[in-house]
Amino acid sequence: MESRSDEGVVARNVVLVGFMGAGKSTVGQQLAAALGWTFIDLDEAIVRESGSSVAELFRTRGEAAFRALESRLTARLSSVEHAVIAPGGGWITDPANPARLPRQTRTVWLRVSAEEAVRRIQAAGVERPLLAATADPVAAARALLEQRETLYGTADVVVDVDGREPAEIVEEIRSTIRFEE
Ligand code: S3P
Repeated sequence: MESRSDEGVVARNVVLVGFMGAGKSTVGQQLAAALGWTFIDLDEAIVRESGSSVAELFRTRGEAAFRALESRLTARLSSVEHAVIAPGGGWITDPANPARLPRQTRTVWLRVSAEEAVRRIQAAGVERPLLAATADPVAAARALLEQRETLYGTADVVVDVDGREPAEIVEEIRSTIRFEE
C-alpha cells in the first residue's frame, strides 16, 4: 500500500480506479457494505441509462459515445455523499472525470498486472471490447495499462491486488483512509 497525499483528509466518497479485472466492482461492493455507504457501479449505470450492454454500445455507437455517456453520468455524481464509486477502467482517461466528483472524494488505485487482469476477465467471461479483437489479450492489456499507468498513479492510495482476496483489500483500504462518519 502506498499512500500519497492529503493523508489527513476525511473521505466523504471513495472512487476505485484501475484496469479491467482489478476487482473494482467486487471490492467496491464489499467496501460500501462494510462502511454502510452506497455502492455506485458506473458501467451498470451506463447500461441502465442506455438499455445496451457495454459491448453492444462499443459495437453500435463506438467508444466515443460510450465515453460521452460515462462523463455525463459522472457529472450527475457531483453532489453524492458516502458513496463508493467504481467506474470502468478507461474512466480516468478523461481528466475532467475525477474533477467532476465532489472535492472530498479519495481515489484508490487497485493495481493489477496485465497477466492477472486477463486471467480474471477470461474466468468471468464478460466481454471487454478493448481486449476482445486481439489474438494476444495479455499484450493488448500490457500496452493499454502502460498508456494509463501515469493516470492511475495520480490516485491518493495505491493497493496491489494480484493474488489477493477482496476482503483483504477492503481491510487495507479501511485501515489507510479516514472515512467520514
Ligand atoms: C473499459 C473498462 C470496462 C468498461 C469498458 C471499457 C476500459 O470496465 O468500462 O469495457 O476502457 O478499460 P471494467 O474496468 O469494469 O472492466
